[in-house]
Amino acid sequence: MTTEFSNDNLEILHSVEEIERRVRELGEEITRDYAGKDLVVVGVLKGSVIFLADLIRQIDLKLSIDFMAVSSYKDGTVSSGDVEILKDLTNPIRGKDVIICEDIVDTGLTLFRLMEILGSRGANSIKIATLLDKPEPRIKKELKIDYCGFQIPNKFVVGYGLDAAGRYRNLPFIGIVKNPEIA
Ligand code: IMP
Ligand code: MG
Repeated sequence: MTTEFSNDNLEILHSVEEIERRVRELGEEITRDYAGKDLVVVGVLKGSVIFLADLIRQIDLKLSIDFMAVSSYKDGTVSSGDVEILKDLTNPIRGKDVIICEDIVDTGLTLFRLMEILGSRGANSIKIATLLDKPEPRIKKELKIDYCGFQIPNKFVVGYGLDAAGRYRNLPFIGIVKNPEIA
């Protein structure tokens, strides 16, 4: 029997152990960089929730979390082109040091728009932490990624929070979908 965890249509790209090690390193780096600051980690729903949950437990500082939901991809694997805010932050970020936590940067459109939106709200600083980064030519070249888990090939990936049409977020590893048509 093929289960969700052992799936013929998936090839493991990053294992549970690799992810754990890399997230710990990122947490240590952020801990050093944000000592004495008023850190808010903003998760972009839903894809970032697993990464955010693990990452903040590796940050040895006082911090708070908040969430935004945006839609840039509908239910498919192709960008729909625009970014719509579905859920805004609960608390103001004025004077705070913000890290936007994302699952993956593909074209960069989502984060570029989020930087524009949050950039106008008086935060002391805004940086980006993404678990994954694809080598796509960026829509906006000036998008700076401050913390990145892994650079990955230009393939559609799932697991550890990332989905294909809502599925696979619960996989503990990151996998490449071999045939997106039957994902
Ligand atoms: P961007 O706006 O093109 O950078 O797309 C970012 C968003 O697209 C991510 O937050 C994901 O929700 C989604 N996305 C892009 N590539 C993948 C992928 O390979 N697997 C799952 N979701 C993806
Ligand atoms: Mg996302």
